[in-house]
Amino acid sequence: MSVVAVANQKGGVGKTTTTVNLAAAAAESGRRTLVIDADAQANATSALGAQSSGLYLYDSLLEQADLSQCIVSTPWPQLDAVPSSMDLVAAEIELASRSEREYVLRGALSDVAGEYDLVLIDCGPSLGLMTLNALTASDAAIAPVQCEYLALEGLSALLETIRRVQMHLHNGLHLLGVVATMYDGRTRLSQDVAAQLRAHISSTFDTIIPRSIRLSEAPSHQRPIIDYAPRSRGAEAYRELAEELFDRLSALPPSTLYRGRIAGGVSR
Ligand SMILES: Nc1ncnc2c1ncn2[C@@H]1O[C@H](COP(=O)(O)OP(=O)(O)OP(=O)(O)O)[C@@H](O)[C@H]1O
Ligand SMILES: [Mg+2]
Repeated sequence: MSVVAVANQKGGVGKTTTTVNLAAAAAESGRRTLVIDADAQANATSALGAQSSGLYLYDSLLEQADLSQCIVSTPWPQLDAVPSSMDLVAAEIELASRSEREYVLRGALSDVAGEYDLVLIDCGPSLGLMTLNALTASDAAIAPVQCEYLALEGLSALLETIRRVQMHLHNGLHLLGVVATMYDGRTRLSQDVAAQLRAHISSTFDTIIPRSIRLSEAPSHQRPIIDYAPRSRGAEAYRELAEELFDRLSALPPSTLYRGRIAGGVSR
């Protein structure tokens, strides 16, 4: 099993779209998959049509519930979710004074991670405490990058944060790769950004996510693309990305994060 954070502090680059559709593609291929919505905007929660039971990620982080109680099934087989809510903004503040505050999500996940083949964490557009919690709880991180002007600007801050997390908080974190999103092959700009990404970041995924109306429409129907438009280019791209993700995950050393699960402890 693997836990993967989908992170980029830049807003609107395709984190949620990637989380939701990658998760749905993984589930379609038979992998038991959990999406954790770690963004107070709760976009992944609504894009998946996940109906909360009244318990949210916030409740688990604040120890008002076990994470397992916050998990809900989605309308899609093999795909579960931990919904988010606006309260998550407050969690960030309430956790700030806690000891071990960067490892709260890891602790919460230790009881449930083993139930899944893949856990994807949708991060919000910040490098704050919630995103740090996502990174320390993960075996790997992937960073969606929009094929647009200035796309590479914020990337160095993200890469630096990941390096700092690796040095100080969680040396087992792997930056699995960067995913080029909203690629429009008709524009020179998209082609240039994709080429620059490849040139500067060797771990850039081969799969490129095209800009597609269908992908932007699917969330308003609360359906992942593989259900909303199963034969569309966007659906095919996310299926391909899922296979590439699993290939890369299988090349990583076994997760050390949750092996203490059976003994009841969190290994660090
Ligand atoms: N490949 C795509 N083609 C067309 N539209 C897309 C694509 N990917 C994302 N979008 C649209 O772009 C907007 C931003 O995408 P998304 O919400 O996934 O980004 P995000 O990084 O999660 O944003 P935030 O930082 O606010 O959480 C959304 O309206 C989404 O539907
Ligand atoms: Mg988002």
